[in-house]
Amino acid sequence: MFDMDAVDDANQSQETPKNDVMSFFESAPLLKDAAEIEKSLTEFVDRNTSSSGKCYFMNGKANRVVCITSGGTTVPLEKQCVRYIDNFASGHRGAASTEYFLKVGYSVVFLYRRGSCQPFCSNLPEDPLLECFSVADDSSIEVDALHAETVKRAITENRAAVAEGILLKLPFTTIFEYLQILQLISVSLRDFGPSAIFFLAAAVSDFYVPWESMALHKIQSASGPLDMRLAQVPKMLSVLRNEWAPMAFHISFKLETDTDILLAKADMALKKYKMHMVIANELLTRKEQVIVVTEQEKVTVCRDSTRAGAEVECPLVELVVDRHSAYIKNFDA
Ligand code: PMT
Repeated sequence: MFDMDAVDDANQSQETPKNDVMSFFESAPLLKDAAEIEKSLTEFVDRNTSSSGKCYFMNGKANRVVCITSGGTTVPLEKQCVRYIDNFASGHRGAASTEYFLKVGYSVVFLYRRGSCQPFCSNLPEDPLLECFSVADDSSIEVDALHAETVKRAITENRAAVAEGILLKLPFTTIFEYLQILQLISVSLRDFGPSAIFFLAAAVSDFYVPWESMALHKIQSASGPLDMRLAQVPKMLSVLRNEWAPMAFHISFKLETDTDILLAKADMALKKYKMHMVIANELLTRKEQVIVVTEQEKVTVCRDSTRAGAEVECPLVELVVDRHSAYIKNFDA
């Protein structure tokens, strides 16, 4: 497995060329569970639209929804994949934000990297199955007292949200799956109009191996050093913003390791992709603070360090909800 950090996008053109987008999708391997995903999206949309009117335009309002992307995409190097390029994202930001959005009444489509952090599970130990449970003398399975409350909360809150139809979890692994599912979600949520948010916290690969030029079998090391050319993943932010979900409230993230360039890059993303908000964060302090950048303001949002277990996502989601409400109000005016 290789490791690659989030990559610079400065040399990408203003608008993503249509041909690049088309050729990315045309050459991508078919999404295996497309029909299943579409079905669950249809059910999710049905359960989250009022009975009096199916869409935003019929009754002037709809439940609020947010699509949260979380974790990092992989770039396979072989069709029968043994090796892949990955990045560091744990999915904590997306999972924690999901909990806070649910708490304030949003319904959530959680598009997450398989194996990454899950909502309601952040306080569980690393290997919950082995660390939270023990086998009693009569062979029944018991939850250890130390973890009982956390396990109970994780199971009940997660199951309740899924059963109520307000939390739909869709997993991805590769960049191909991620972008295809994101497109399906954005089209499905179109009727929510301005009531939908795209909260793009996933770390998305900037380079990939096109499917048609990818080796079928495991690349052999006998032939010496590997010389490989990666194509650029078309930046989908402008396509999502302008074509897939033109009325939604769009939030992208900007991650840098160099504080000196962070805000300039966030400003650039705001203008270039016409985002409503860019959330700037630095690798080492991302759990402590983020800077919310909009056309009108730059707000530093910090974790409440006086409260044990407090997360920066709590005040962050509060601020996002406030700005989203103003967006909906302006839209209606
Ligand atoms: O998951 P955690 O460990 O909690 O970490 C959270 C986080 C640091 C990953 C998160 O807060 C974050 O910053 N996510 C975005 C990281 C990133 O990929 O930044 P970027 O500069 O490469 O991309 C900027 C935006 O463009 C992203 O919103 C991304 O969704 C989008 N993008 C990127 C590449 C691409 N080809 N198309 C895109 O649309």
